[in-house]
Amino acid sequence: MSKIESNMINDKNLQTYSTSDVVNYYQYLQQLQPAEETIIKLLKNKLSNMKMLDLGVGGGRTIQHFFPLVKEYIGVDYSVDMIKACQQRLSQSYPSIKLMVGDARNLSQFDDNYFDFILFSFNGIDYISHEDRLKGLQEIKRVGKSGGYFFFSSHNLQAIEKLFNWRCHFSLNPFKTYVNLVMFAFLRGFNSSINYPTIKQKNYAILRDESHNFRLRTYYIRASEQIKQLEPLFTDIKVFSWKTGLQLTTKQDMIFCNDMWLYYLCRIK
Ligand SMILES: C[S@@+](CC[C@H](N)C(=O)[O-])C[C@H]1O[C@@H](n2cnc3c(N)ncnc32)[C@H](O)[C@@H]1O
Repeated sequence: MSKIESNMINDKNLQTYSTSDVVNYYQYLQQLQPAEETIIKLLKNKLSNMKMLDLGVGGGRTIQHFFPLVKEYIGVDYSVDMIKACQQRLSQSYPSIKLMVGDARNLSQFDDNYFDFILFSFNGIDYISHEDRLKGLQEIKRVGKSGGYFFFSSHNLQAIEKLFNWRCHFSLNPFKTYVNLVMFAFLRGFNSSINYPTIKQKNYAILRDESHNFRLRTYYIRASEQIKQLEPLFTDIKVFSWKTGLQLTTKQDMIFCNDMWLYYLCRIK
């Protein structure tokens, strides 16, 4: 991908995450996702000794669940408007909370080996280009302690690829078929260079999907490829279904999981 394309993806996504309707949407989210509940249970005995970085904190959905459990908490987002929304929402309940504008690709405000637990929840890592994603992973490893945890989710290419196949859109219900075909037309229209045979060949792709009315450029990756991407920097990589919160333990589980995104828990090398 050229530098110009990469900058365009990054700029458009930041612009979308600074738009008032999108900020409002995240400001009112409250509930944890099932895989996040699983991780709280898994780390429950350790969290009280952990310094946590909540990357892409957005409107603050995760704060009320994690801030009271950890030793130190810092929330970071590259959208000034998200951080303002978060402050408005939570600084009264948690006056000592640290929220700051910052970018996962350059965490130079933080020392090496500082955090025990880094969260990049609800696919925040999917809104930067491929090259920047790799840079972000390096930064996460740098600011995390060796043996510390990194937990994040990312869109599942395996799940969206079938939506590029027109044959999958027919149902016994004519209204459903009509809606599916309209969405298929939008998906193909917004991603005109990608079709079913080409997407099946890819291990990752940047796509415009229906979220926030096709305004975002979203990185989708197969679980096997995500694991390969993590392996140089992280160890003990586990994959979880976002819907059930259960671990996917076999290759088959990962290939056949149709969750639109998956969670990954790994330890910093
Ligand atoms: C889908 S929202 C999730 C918000 C929140 N974590 C939640 O779970 O409700 C993704 C968030 O990641 C932020 N984000 C995307 N790329 C980022 C980057 N490079 N550095 C910091 N934040 C980023 C966006 O501004 C947005 O607030």
